Amino acid sequence: MKEKIIIFDTTLRDGEQSLQSSLNTQEKIEIALALEEMNIDIIEAGFPISSPGDFKSVQEICKKIKNSTVCSLARCIDKDIKIAAKAMSQLNHFRIHLFLGTSKLHIESKLKKNFTEIQDMAIRSIKLAKKYTDDIEFSCEDAGRTSIDNLCSIVEILIKNGVKTINIPDTVGYTIPNEFSKIISELFIRVPNIDQAIISVHCHNDLGMAVGNSISAIQSGARQIEGTITGIGERAGNTALEELIMAIKTRKKMLNFFTDIKHQKIYKTSKIISKICYISIPINKANIGANAFAHSSGFPQDGIIKNRKNYEIFSPKSLDNQNKFNFTSRSGRTAVKNRMPEMGYTEKDYNLKKLYKKFLELADKKGQILDYDLQTLAFIKNHSKKT
Ligand code: KIV
Ligand code: ZN
Repeated sequence: MKEKIIIFDTTLRDGEQSLQSSLNTQEKIEIALALEEMNIDIIEAGFPISSPGDFKSVQEICKKIKNSTVCSLARCIDKDIKIAAKAMSQLNHFRIHLFLGTSKLHIESKLKKNFTEIQDMAIRSIKLAKKYTDDIEFSCEDAGRTSIDNLCSIVEILIKNGVKTINIPDTVGYTIPNEFSKIISELFIRVPNIDQAIISVHCHNDLGMAVGNSISAIQSGARQIEGTITGIGERAGNTALEELIMAIKTRKKMLNFFTDIKHQKIYKTSKIISKICYISIPINKANIGANAFAHSSGFPQDGIIKNRKNYEIFSPKSLDNQNKFNFTSRSGRTAVKNRMPEMGYTEKDYNLKKLYKKFLELADKKGQILDYDLQTLAFIKNHSKKT
């Protein structure tokens, strides 16, 4: 039986932290609605203590979101928890996301505490958060660099105190897949009450491992993945959810998981986020980049014309994206031949051999050949015949 992976989107919190300027309430609502339309399970709407604007945005998002669970971040500090709960109070059900550093580095040099004090802070904050909701997520910040003994012991305490979702962030994107997967496996081996909580992961991309680490975590027992559409987030970003979701879908036999995400909304949502956040999507970005389904050289173009599966592991239509051919000096004659009828030309309108020769000459000078270049080349031939 395939198991569901819960998708937690933090575009409006971790994603927003990485932008040059904050998003306004209207922009955040637009993104939240697009995420809900995609069927994202949990939307982290913000960090309400961080500013009055963020508080207001979370409140307004709560008015609009009907199906996804809305979540807000809070440090293990009373006022953070109270403000987070207040921002979401109009909802019958909401999640409070508590976080606290658990690595030696964070405990000693950032929080100036010891591990016992950290445990006490966590328990106290959970008790307070429970007054507002029974849906509490707890993030062991810098879990990727936390000693496994300490991680197991705090996770056990968190679960004993009623935390439903335990998040294991690789906060600084330091781990590599087999190492991260070992951390998750160890939790399942060593924490006696582990089955009473969902284990979540939140991977940063500093070494380019965020999606790989997330996949390795679900193979070791994690059932919630956090990230953002397009992968924006602190520094090198978070797990690019569109990549993770399409990997789960495309490799479903291998992984044996599913998500409830409406794949066809992925491309549109990525465009909305890119526009609102002023983030340009790299052309080679999997699934959503301009070249993600483009074929440029002769042999892949020829292969695609014969059978799409030769070079396409899934159809761009599953994301509502499109295929395209990039016409360059690496493109073959067959690709040009195929494009001409698509533009309304019949074989008697042009001589393929001559057209392809001119095409290569121009492509060597110009780089990419666009439709109107092809039309001009065909026109030159017709025109010279008439005169
Ligand atoms: O990267 C991180 O550890 C975080 C936590 C607040 C979950 O963003
Ligand atoms: Zn993060």
